[in-house]
Formats: sequence, C-alpha cells, structure tokens
Amino acid sequence: MCPIQASANPPCLRLLLIALLAGGCSSPADPDPDPVQSLPALREVSNFPVGIAFQAGRIQASAYNSIARGVFSSLTAEYEMKMRHLSAGPGVYTWDNADALVEFARSNDMQVHGHALVWHESTPSWVENFTGTDEAFETQIRQYITDVVGRYGDAIISWDVVNEAFENNTGLLRQSVFRRRMGSDYLARLFRYAREADPDVLLFYNDYATPWDAAKRGAMFSMIDDFQNRGIPIDGIGLQMHVTYDFPSIDAIGAVMDSVAARGLLVHVSELDVRVNPAGDLTSLTEARSQAQKARINDIVTAFVSLPADRQFAITLWGLRDPDSWLIDFWGNPEWPLLYDEAFRPKPAYEGFLEAL
Ligand code: XIL
Repeated sequence: MCPIQASANPPCLRLLLIALLAGGCSSPADPDPDPVQSLPALREVSNFPVGIAFQAGRIQASAYNSIARGVFSSLTAEYEMKMRHLSAGPGVYTWDNADALVEFARSNDMQVHGHALVWHESTPSWVENFTGTDEAFETQIRQYITDVVGRYGDAIISWDVVNEAFENNTGLLRQSVFRRRMGSDYLARLFRYAREADPDVLLFYNDYATPWDAAKRGAMFSMIDDFQNRGIPIDGIGLQMHVTYDFPSIDAIGAVMDSVAARGLLVHVSELDVRVNPAGDLTSLTEARSQAQKARINDIVTAFVSLPADRQFAITLWGLRDPDSWLIDFWGNPEWPLLYDEAFRPKPAYEGFLEAL
C-alpha cells in the first residue's frame, strides 16, 4: 500500500516528496493512481486553514483522497450538507454522506466548515410546499437547525447559517419560502436558532458578487450593522469568490475583505474558483490565460493575508480538478477554474497561491 494511504496522520510534505523520489505509489494496474506532487502542500506552509469542497463519493478514490488530506486542512461539503440532501421530511434525515465527510476530516486533522443550513436553491419539497401554518413552518426550521448543528457539535467548527439571501442588483431579500413564511426579520431569527443549537460554533453569512454588486453589498453590510446593534450573533462572512481572471478588480475584492474585518468579523474566502474562459474564446487552456489565473489567485491570497491574522478564517477552493468544477455545467463553456488539472497535477495557479503565503 502506498505510504501516503497507510499513514494514520495527515500526509506531510515529506511523504509527498518521498512518493516523488520513489516514483510514486501507483502500480500499472491501479486505475486511479495516487498523485505525485513535488510542490509544498498548502496546509504545510499556510498560517491559516486552506479548504477544499469535497464529496463523500471521492473519499474512496485514492487520488482525491490523497490530495484532499495531504494538501488541505479544511473541508466543506460541496452539496451533501445542504437541506435538500440531509432531510426528506420533517425530522427525517439522511446522515450517511455528511457523517462520512466529517469522519474523513476528523481522521485527517482537517477542520470542517458546514455549508449551508438555509439556501433557497437547496430546499427540499417538504419545506418548499409546507402546508401548515407559518408558526409550524418556523418550528420545523428551528428544529432542523437544532438537529443538524447539534449532531456534529465540535466536529463542525463553523456553519453558513444562510446562503445568498439577497437579490442581485436590488439588495432586496429574496422572496424565498423562508422569507415568505418567517417575515422580513427571518435572518436574525435563523442566526439566533443556530446560536442556541451550539454556543461555540462560528456563524457565517455567505454570498457572492458583493465586490461588484453595490446593492447586494450594501444590504449585506446593513444586515451586519443591524445584527451588531441588536446583539444578533454573527461571527463571519463568506465571500464566495467565483471570479474570472480579469473581473472584478482586486481593489474591489480587497475592499470588501477589509470592510468585513473592520467590523470585527472573520473573513472566509469560501468558494474560490477563477474562470479563464468567460467569453468562450478558448477551446483549451492557453499559457497566457493560465498565467493570468495564477496572478489572480496570487492577488486574492495576498489580499487575504494582508488582513489582521485574527480575522483570517480560511480560504476554500470550490473543487479540486478543473473537470470537476460546477462552473462547466453552470456556464456551458469549457473551463479550467481550479488549482489542479485533469491529471491531478497542480497548475501554475497552485504556485500563485503558494507564492502569496
Ligand atoms: C454547487 C455545487 O458545486 C454543485 O455540486 C451543486 O450541484 C450545486 O451547488 N454557490 C454555493 C454553492 O453556495 O453551494 C454552490 O455549489 C455554487 C454556488
């Protein structure tokens, strides 16, 4: 068995280098060879947690397994902790995949960020089509939060309590079933319920587009200010960071990070990927675009590490290899947005991350 796989502890840079010198761990018969990486593992050289969005089905795939635990120190479920995947009915839960991810992280010394308790895009039909009263609806959602947060306790150190509550361009609250059923102050009550479920877990609001959408950004900071004025618990902000190689400006990104930190909150770059083909002009990744992506990653990590150390929560990559990225289906263009290529080789973008540390 490969020494990386056999290790009870998270594999360190040394093991990765041993694998390199030994010619890797794979045998010709292995259809899923272990990766061989000569670059330092991010978890070994970073002063803050570096996360990966992961899927339970990849725990048994040796290349994914080795890189996830060898290179990253934090884990977010890419979808298996969302409400639609956890709960098929009131009080009815399917824990297997979430449990497997938490156990994988625990046994490899990775912290777990919970994503996401409430998201309008992942609402099960029993919630979407709830037939009881508004009061009964809120009781069920509160119970859901209590059950999910309570199940994992210290094994999950932080949760996105609400994901993407504000509309693009207007900053108005989306008319989700949660907003319709619970009223205009529903965000505050969800955060309170999460705090009641666990007094220690860190509570995040997570959203996209805040660097370039002034209305959404304004709404988010109004929410933060309101929460802080009223004593509603909130510990941090997730900035999803689905960006392109040339948009938005790094100044806009840095300014949002700074504003979050200035309010005393933790900054999580929570879903980092960098599209290199937003206009659809590429059919393969060019060296120039790959270098632009490297520079972009470097700039974002540089902005993050310039924050006060106690405001730096984590940077999480939204997937491992380019072909795994959700962006390919979402936008329909060929894309190469992540740090690893299809053969599990770190790209120049990986070096861009390293060089900012
Ligand atoms: C995406 C996942 O990557 C997909 O696998 C899933 O099918 C849909 O959700 N913003 C978020 C993430 O907060 O949860 C989304 O993840 C991407 C956009």
